[in-house]
Amino acid sequence: MEALQFYTRLVEEGLRNLEFPAKPEQLYEPQRYILRLGGKRIRPILTLLGTELFNTEAHIALPQALAIETFHNFTLIHDDIMDAAPLRRNQPTIHQKWNENVGILSGDALMIRAYQLLGQIHPSLLPDAFELFNTTALEVCEGQQMDMDFELRMDVSAAEYIEMIRLKTSVLLGCALELGAIVAGANKDDRDQLYEFGQQIGIAFQIQDDILDLYGDPEKFGKQIGGDVIANKKTLLFLTALNVASAEQREILKQLSTENDLALKVSRTRELFDHLNIRSICENRMGEHYNLAMLALTKVNVDPSKKKVLIQLADFLMERDN
Ligand code: IPE
Ligand code: IPE
Ligand code: MG
Ligand code: MG
Ligand code: MG
Repeated sequence: MEALQFYTRLVEEGLRNLEFPAKPEQLYEPQRYILRLGGKRIRPILTLLGTELFNTEAHIALPQALAIETFHNFTLIHDDIMDAAPLRRNQPTIHQKWNENVGILSGDALMIRAYQLLGQIHPSLLPDAFELFNTTALEVCEGQQMDMDFELRMDVSAAEYIEMIRLKTSVLLGCALELGAIVAGANKDDRDQLYEFGQQIGIAFQIQDDILDLYGDPEKFGKQIGGDVIANKKTLLFLTALNVASAEQREILKQLSTENDLALKVSRTRELFDHLNIRSICENRMGEHYNLAMLALTKVNVDPSKKKVLIQLADFLMERDN
């Protein structure tokens, strides 16, 4: 996206400048690997935009933006172990390329790196930044645990699902933006509304991720298609299907959760979802959270012209294919 190129470049350059020791190679090479694989870099861009929104130059928040991106990449390394995912950004996941222990430890080290970067903030801002970051990091863990707990349940409600994705995904987008606002010295009201914008965009973003997990183009999406179905994830797609299905169809969905032929499991589930029009129901739900995000953004007290790039980024996220 053209308007975002400036920020993407800033983030990429910042990441390239992060140095990792040569040895032990199995500790540091996986960290270099995951950061080199690319990704959309939306979270660090949100931090930079959160700073600029309050009349402070974006680059001032670069270390904190990098803290958010390194933290995100740490969560991906561990998430891929938990989800037994073979592919990330079109390349083998770290536990596949090396092994699970390497994924655990290199992930831990990357999280510590995130804290080092976070700490490069004006000392007067450190307590607020630390409080926000720590709360967020714990919430992500809570969301991830709920996500795994739900794999074993068939009675998850849509409200429980929204709370789970709010925690595992959305709070980090809210945190990214608010951290940027903290760097710029914004007041608490504005910080809160900006956080809410991020949180609602994050909910829409995770619903979109769940849709792409089944309907994405494998080349573009860069992750295994159908991974959520294979792992019995309680995505909004699945919960909506359970909700609108006939008793007979519900029975089929339940039986599919124990199907050993994984290609068949994915294709049958998808057929049933298509039959029930699940994708468009979920896209509507995504749109509702996008609207809530825009509402929160109108309440941030800065000139509307300053919000344009944020809106462009939000629109881009809703139409993405990876
Ligand atoms: C993946 O996040 C994890 C989710 C919360 C869905 P992204 O889709 O932002 O992943 P990258 O960083 O662009 O690869
Ligand atoms: C991931 O949710 C959330 C975190 C990494 C904390 P997913 O498990 O859906 O993310 P992907 O699809 O593997 O990127
Ligand atoms: Mg995953
Ligand atoms: Mg996961
Ligand atoms: Mg996913």
